[in-house]
Amino acid sequence: MALITKAIKGTQDTLPADSYKIKFLEATLADIAGHYGFREIRTPVFEHTELFNRSVGDTTDVVQKEMYTFDDKGGRSITLRPEGTAGAVRAYLEHGLFNDPSPMKVYYLTSCYRYEKPQAGRLREFHQFGVECFGTDAPAQDAEVIALADEAFGFLGVKGLELQINSIGCPHCRPVYQKALKDYFTAHKSELCETCLTRLERNPMRILDCKEEDAALKDNAPVVLDYLCDECKDHFEKVKKYLEAMGLTYTVNPRIVRGLDYYTKTVFEFVSNDIGAQGTVCGGGRYDGLCEELGGKAIPALGFAMGLERLLLLLDAQGIELPADEPQALYLATAGDAASLKAAQIIHDLRAEGISCSFDTVGRSIKAQMKYANKLGADFTAVLGDNELESGIVQLKYMDTGDTRDVSLDTFAEDFQQIAMQTALSALQAELDMGGEDLGKVDLSALLGGNSTWTE
Ligand code: HAM
Repeated sequence: MALITKAIKGTQDTLPADSYKIKFLEATLADIAGHYGFREIRTPVFEHTELFNRSVGDTTDVVQKEMYTFDDKGGRSITLRPEGTAGAVRAYLEHGLFNDPSPMKVYYLTSCYRYEKPQAGRLREFHQFGVECFGTDAPAQDAEVIALADEAFGFLGVKGLELQINSIGCPHCRPVYQKALKDYFTAHKSELCETCLTRLERNPMRILDCKEEDAALKDNAPVVLDYLCDECKDHFEKVKKYLEAMGLTYTVNPRIVRGLDYYTKTVFEFVSNDIGAQGTVCGGGRYDGLCEELGGKAIPALGFAMGLERLLLLLDAQGIELPADEPQALYLATAGDAASLKAAQIIHDLRAEGISCSFDTVGRSIKAQMKYANKLGADFTAVLGDNELESGIVQLKYMDTGDTRDVSLDTFAEDFQQIAMQTALSALQAELDMGGEDLGKVDLSALLGGNSTWTE
């Protein structure tokens, strides 16, 4: 029978064989954010549509073309979040987090939804790691936020990412720039797509971000850096100085305008040439006017988000392996009903002690069970049958070396914990002694020292 349905276009499953990668990424990014004083915030996957119209902006591609918007059964217009900033700002204002010590620094790991044309690195459901920092307009904060992203990439060993920065001005100087853009694009009206014709009146800067428009037409348009007011210029210069003080290399790309309306002053992107057309792995900037725009106090803020799928593509493209999940410490194979019951008891006791282990719950042959244990990559195996039950002794095998050792069934749980711990410590010591060479080459009897009762 054919499958009833398939995953929706532009979405992807994370299967057990690969989930360790995203788990590792999320834990690492959360850790680094923690070092910078950011704490986690979680907000709902859907919000009132109005929130995104007002923040992301109703002349952006995201709002005009890409949002998953629907009426709920109560007739409210609801939208699946296309990005994480709007929800974070809404929560910050709603819960009065501005009363907490400032700056308030939060991070999130969330799914996002955009109805875009799927391609490598562009999905309809994707995941972001993002940070937002509220309560300071100081350039040092811009640099700190950028440095956090840079450190994350550095920690993961990513190479060749270019940090591009720009300033897109503030409510004082932006209108002058918008006017210059309007004049320029009005002279090229016949070349604009239908959406951009409406943007021409309301927000000509958005035309620079439109995927439909000719690249040369956009490249020849006036450049925002030429229109910055003194305050914005000064801010930008200071951000650069801080970046330099922290040893970050950047290029100024006056063409970055970002695809969301809330930005002011500093904007930045980390761009890679290794993953095709969707090379922007991380993007962010200041949004000093957004809190007020959403009905709150005027509180300056900034942040960034990186796409986890794009980051994984990049790691893959650069051959960077992430650490796999720890394998199971023990697989206990059984033959016969009595042995199965005893194994259930032993494994239950070991799990209660925090040991990761399994026994046969299927009733397969010993050969099939050992094949399964091999696939699990269990550190140790043992076979429990009538003979072992009678003698009260089971042979424990260390799979890396094939070394075996007799363990009493009566004290198996306690003994195994000790053995597992001792083996792990010895293997670690040996690895250190060998300067990090492959642990598989380590002879366990040597590892366990003179007191070992292991036999080859
Ligand atoms: P954004 O540039 O729209 O900014 O998205 C940030 C990152 O999310 C992108 O650089 C990319 O890695 C990833 N991304 C975006 N769209 C997709 C997609 N369709 N498929 C896969 N990955 C995607 C924001 O979302 C802002 N909220 C960032 C921010 C936070 N600015 C200030 N604070």
